[in-house]
Amino acid sequence: MSGRLESKHAIVTGGAQGIGLAITKRFAAEGAQVIIADVNADEGAKVAADIPGAAFHVLDVTSEESWQALFADAEKQLGRIDILVNNAGIARMADIEHTTLADWQAVIAVNLTGNFLGNKYGVIHMKDHGGAIVNMSSIAGLVGDPNSAAYTASKGGVRLLTKSVASYCAEQHYNIRVNSVHPGVVATPMVAGIPKAIVAKVAAQNPMGRIAQPEEIANMVLFVASDEASYSTGSEFIVDGGTTA
Ligand code: NAI
Repeated sequence: MSGRLESKHAIVTGGAQGIGLAITKRFAAEGAQVIIADVNADEGAKVAADIPGAAFHVLDVTSEESWQALFADAEKQLGRIDILVNNAGIARMADIEHTTLADWQAVIAVNLTGNFLGNKYGVIHMKDHGGAIVNMSSIAGLVGDPNSAAYTASKGGVRLLTKSVASYCAEQHYNIRVNSVHPGVVATPMVAGIPKAIVAKVAAQNPMGRIAQPEEIANMVLFVASDEASYSTGSEFIVDGGTTA
């Protein structure tokens, strides 16, 4: 099936690589015009050039000015944004005893403050015409991971921020749906930095015996962002091969 996002305009943060890139490719293949918004300008511009229907805009999700500039330019370029995927994120793997204040602040800034700013400016932009916001959480936003205190806290924050914004938008009759997606471990550049033995152990412990491919997360994001999910808001969409089952 193709054309599921025909005539839709989307922004995907962190779209230069990994899950965000897979989402961008899938959205574009389904007929959407997509803006890849990423702090990595070189890679973002390079990948956008190879995807028909995609363009690049630099964005640092931690900066309010950067979000304002993105939406101002997106409105000029596309007029209306229907879909915002707040996907950009960073990981620092450390338990509570070994998490430095600097790492905590970096993770919270990108994963949680970045998500807050995206939701704020997404709602302000979409409230007159409606839309869908998809926030990338993690299974670490559902159950506590002992080895990533800051990351787990940030992703739990994304989960409940989603529910707050979803309830508010429904109450205001903005016709904006807001949901979170919760992947298990996915084969992306983020995970390439983790020792192979650890990833192999995670895969072996997974009920399906493997980690996910980015396209499997993109498929879920496509559904949640599309009009097919018209009665879902404030919900958690888990894609983890049964890890949290
Ligand atoms: P990745 O590291 O491969 O890609 C992340 C992208 O975000 C990069 O293009 C990077 O330049 C961009 N980014 C980082 N900081 C930014 C900032 N301040 N402003 C704008 N863009 C920024 O990561 P991956 O694996 O594709 O993860 C995407 C999302 O999925 C993240 O939110 C991550 O926490 C989440 N996730 C990933 C899982 C995994 O196993 N890979 C599992 C569960 C959730």
